[in-house]
Amino acid sequence: MWKAGSLVLLMMMTSTVSPAQDAADNAEKAIAAFEDVFGVTQGKRRNHTKGYCIEGEFRPVDATIRNYSTSSLFTGKSSVVARVSHKGGNNAAADDKFGHFGLAMEITTADGDLHIFNMNTEHFFPVPSPEAFTELMRAKATGKDAVAAFVAKSPELRAHKKYHAEIDKTLRPYEGATYNSINSFYLIDKTGQKSAIRFSFVPAGEHKIVLEPRQDFFLQNIQANLQAGEVAWNMIVTIANPDDPVNNPAALWTGEHHQITAAKFVVMSATTEADGQCDAINYDPLVLSDGFAPSEDRMLEARSLIYAIGVGKRLSEKD
Ligand code: HEM
Repeated sequence: MWKAGSLVLLMMMTSTVSPAQDAADNAEKAIAAFEDVFGVTQGKRRNHTKGYCIEGEFRPVDATIRNYSTSSLFTGKSSVVARVSHKGGNNAAADDKFGHFGLAMEITTADGDLHIFNMNTEHFFPVPSPEAFTELMRAKATGKDAVAAFVAKSPELRAHKKYHAEIDKTLRPYEGATYNSINSFYLIDKTGQKSAIRFSFVPAGEHKIVLEPRQDFFLQNIQANLQAGEVAWNMIVTIANPDDPVNNPAALWTGEHHQITAAKFVVMSATTEADGQCDAINYDPLVLSDGFAPSEDRMLEARSLIYAIGVGKRLSEKD
């Protein structure tokens, strides 16, 4: 298994300047910026604060994915402890208004390997680097003028705003939304050959809103959908074309691509965080099963550091 932190350790051993120290500084600043923008809900995540747990099974679908990866995710049934959430640090985010969401999954394979997928519903990231994201959050904490100044100097953020202003804003429940990896990864085959990928989890059915929308109804909605039939997502893997920007999460991969429906995540139950097992999990995107590797996208390492600080803080605040 690829272990979170390995990248940072490697950088510390091979560099005379200290990118590891810079990354650690950025992580502290990123957490502080989230706390300044949203405030702190004691014992809760600083981002994606509102959410609940779902559990289920991860099942391989199209065996051609095994030509690209030796991961045991694709050879047998695995168990999943996942969390769905609203983006942002507002623990009272409204379920009855359009918003962006997250889906994070900790998967234990039949071989005992661990794998984390951690995605959101955006199509690409607003900025290309972790430092730029911290700067954007700082601007949000400072006020409107600072944000306007950031927008003026960031073509990526302008492109992100334009693209996401034009997407379908129909109200959907967590289970009716498509989640994207945003960052790229590598699949590794049995000869050691690497293929760059991105992936999405796409609802396998309609999974609509079946209850009267109100401030808090998403948990009851998925429970009603589970009663009525299957709730599941298909994992669609997109293999990179040679000219795709692998290390820039603010750049979309456009045009025709080879895609494989690699697996299906079937939900068995949904519970509050208090009743489920997801609350204490650190959904670190660098925890990867054998047969996967992180891309050189620096945001992955940054996320790993930030989430490690986040989990330490929130768990230490519990009664
Ligand atoms: C530098 C960029 C990013 C920063 C600073 C950041 C920051 C954070 C923070 C502070 C948390 C709370 C961690 C905790 O306390 O456990 C979090 C959680 C999360 N982030 Fe990010 N994030 C970044 C990029 C991304 C990207 C690219 C995605 C999606 C692909 C993403 C998806 C999520 C999700 C889904 C969660 C909640 C996971 C859960 O339910 O535990 N983040 N993020």
